[in-house]
Amino acid sequence: MQETIRFVFDDRIVEVGFSDSSIFKPTSTVLTFLRSLPSFKGVKEGCAEGDCGACTVVLAEIGSQGKLVYRTIDSCLVFLPMIHGKQLITVEHLAFYKERHRILHPVQEMLIKTNGSQCGYCTPGVVMSLFGLFKTHQNPSRETIEDFLTGNLCRCTGYQAILEAAQKACSGNGTDHFSQYEPGVIGMLKEITGNTDTFECTKGTQHYLKPFTLTEALRLRKAFPASVIINGSTDVALRQTKKKELLTGIIDLSGVEEMCHYAEDQDAFVLGAGLSLEKVRLFAKERLPALHNILKVFGSLQIRNMATLGGNIGSASPIGDTLPLLIAYKAKIRVCSHGAERTIGIGDFITGYRKIALGDDELITEIIIPKTGPETLVSSYKVSKRRDMDISTVSAAFRIELHKGTISEIILAYGGMAPAPVRAIKTENFLNGKSWSRSTIEDAMSVLDKEFTPISDARAEAGYRNTVAKNLLMKFYLDSN
Ligand SMILES: Cc1cc2nc3c(=O)[nH]c(=O)nc-3n(C[C@H](O)[C@H](O)[C@H](O)COP(=O)(O)OP(=O)(O)OC[C@H]3O[C@@H](n4cnc5c(N)ncnc54)[C@H](O)[C@@H]3O)c2cc1C
Ligand code: FES
Ligand code: FES
Repeated sequence: MQETIRFVFDDRIVEVGFSDSSIFKPTSTVLTFLRSLPSFKGVKEGCAEGDCGACTVVLAEIGSQGKLVYRTIDSCLVFLPMIHGKQLITVEHLAFYKERHRILHPVQEMLIKTNGSQCGYCTPGVVMSLFGLFKTHQNPSRETIEDFLTGNLCRCTGYQAILEAAQKACSGNGTDHFSQYEPGVIGMLKEITGNTDTFECTKGTQHYLKPFTLTEALRLRKAFPASVIINGSTDVALRQTKKKELLTGIIDLSGVEEMCHYAEDQDAFVLGAGLSLEKVRLFAKERLPALHNILKVFGSLQIRNMATLGGNIGSASPIGDTLPLLIAYKAKIRVCSHGAERTIGIGDFITGYRKIALGDDELITEIIIPKTGPETLVSSYKVSKRRDMDISTVSAAFRIELHKGTISEIILAYGGMAPAPVRAIKTENFLNGKSWSRSTIEDAMSVLDKEFTPISDARAEAGYRNTVAKNLLMKFYLDSN
């Protein structure tokens, strides 16, 4: 058992213990840790809910090629034990000294040259997003640059200058003073991650467990069935940061590598439940276009770099963006307990408002997406108040199979129309066996109009939701031609 967490910070291994600490509890965030240090005030708390990006930092860890991979995250949503075995990089680390002269990092230099610097509250987060871009992309497209900046909310009209800075700074090969120190950092990270004993901390009423193998995770799940499971914590952390709840029992799956695999055979794609949604997005790009499409407008990069597919399913939110699509894909969920496993269709797994059919000794381990033939079309749609960084008002995923112009199979799955993601079964029954034509769709829209009784809330009126649901069906028809 490990009683402390360790990560690389300031070119050395830093160790944090919680039991005797007067400052930290195991669910203290990385943001809290940084703000407690006198020299690390660049990072800011803007919203404490993953929306503004003022708290953006970069994590580096050893990737599958044995090299460091860098990702931007919102430090306000990440509990300290989640960065065990990683390098934590903040805006304070970007410049370095050479012969007593301070040399700015290329992204800082360019931001100054293009007049892209904004207020002191937001700029450090913007700089860290640009740094994340610098370390992962050469000559990025405009779309990629925008994606990297989506999670940094306020730029007070400085968009053009920031985009220009990003383009110019990232025109090289990503080499900087971090490149030189990578072998040393990898050595330190290996030293930390070589120990796979579970991290366990009891402090007051809090009990935090971080296993590093699936077997151990399942053992702990059985031993502590009441503990909250977290992986990316982008849902659960808000219970602490916004609702001020003290999370007592936690099983943190973010260190279980065995849950982060993907595979493909001739029948199906298999995605580990612990894969970050950004990794899923990249995997889906050439293989599952409808999944790639919905993940392009899922939160921000900082969120997708932490959030997992298992977490989106585990949350079972009525507006969980991947859920209607997993229904349309006829995905199956693999759940495991200590010594047993079972596979269940996604439709049966989600049982109600934020409810899933998960036993109190089970974990979601894999999502299996059967491959479709060329005659099957699957599409996904998301309607929200703004395109980026917003949760859905209504989402939809549709699947159709045609035989000589006649509908031989159809699935219409919606989010935001009922307490849980749901199929429009009556409308599907109406459509089955009919010709795939505009007039059929117009008739189906009348059936769909009466199928759901959505709620009115701050996001939208019930009538608006019904209209959007119908129009998305028409859009699917038009897109299919
Ligand atoms: C700023 C912001 C933007 C967001 N944007 C979107 C969006 O556009 N679309 C959207 O759908 N959601 C969005 N979310 C919600 C959230 O990011 C997603 O639901 C995400 O997929 C959750 O994954 P996670 O790993 O962070 O889950 P966690 O918070 O770690 O866990 C969520 C739930 O899943 C359960 N769980 C996690 N892993 C497992 C497992 N392996 N086995 C069993 N149970 C498990 C946990 O017990 C918990 O109940 C957003 C959140 C934030 C803060
Ligand atoms: S403080 Fe706003 S995203 Fe973290
Ligand atoms: S408030 Fe900081 S850049 Fe707009």
